Amino acid sequence: MSWQATILTLFPEMFPGPLGLSLAGKALGGGVWSCQTHDLRQHGLGRHRAVDDTPFGGGAGMVIRADVVDAALSAIQAPEGAPRVFLTPRGRPLRQQDVSRYAQGPGVVLLCGRFEGVDERVLEARGIEQVSIGDYVLSGGETAALVLLDACVRLLPGVMGSDESGVEESFSDGLLEYPHYTRPASWDGRDVPEVLLSGNHAAIAAWRQKQAEEITRERRPDLWSAWLDRRERNEAAAGRSGQSGRTGV
Ligand code: ADE
Repeated sequence: MSWQATILTLFPEMFPGPLGLSLAGKALGGGVWSCQTHDLRQHGLGRHRAVDDTPFGGGAGMVIRADVVDAALSAIQAPEGAPRVFLTPRGRPLRQQDVSRYAQGPGVVLLCGRFEGVDERVLEARGIEQVSIGDYVLSGGETAALVLLDACVRLLPGVMGSDESGVEESFSDGLLEYPHYTRPASWDGRDVPEVLLSGNHAAIAAWRQKQAEEITRERRPDLWSAWLDRRERNEAAAGRSGQSGRTGV
């Protein structure tokens, strides 16, 4: 059974888009995952198939109607237990742990908005999670859905070869990844850090860990303080069970 992406959108032509190429495209062609779009317009009302209406309480923009979204949800065939996700800048931030949860399930149902948003009642009544891919506003949820799908598909079994292994990458242990270098060893007057040429694997691992910690502390204070908290808890737990906890940064 392949992992199934079901997308409710006013722009079905936007899918699979870039996910039809490269690793994701190969996996799509090979049946590892499937991408089914469903045009919200099919459930629009009247001669113009309107999917939206003006907001109660006034204000700018239009709101996608609850009954239109509900009719679309009833028309699709998504796997049992697939989470329903509405892409919106008002959502909870998407994290690698969410991506990993989605990838481990049977698939996802993605609702892509345009205009001001979607009537809140259908989101509540139909158990639709609200997810944001970052603190900026896109012109619609479709590009956000592509980002979410890319992050999920690369984790599906068989999609990444050993070369692209996701074992050691940013966020996998709560830190950003250390920097990378390749040949030539000297370029434009800049030398590769000497330790990387030493062949001393323990020294290399220690250098990379220190770099990951420094970069995270500098670029992402939010991830850094969460990592420090986790380390403190782990050390306390190790202390309680009589092991020696790690010390130093
Ligand atoms: N739709 C518009 N902007 C978005 C964002 N930042 N994340 C998810 N969906 C969106």
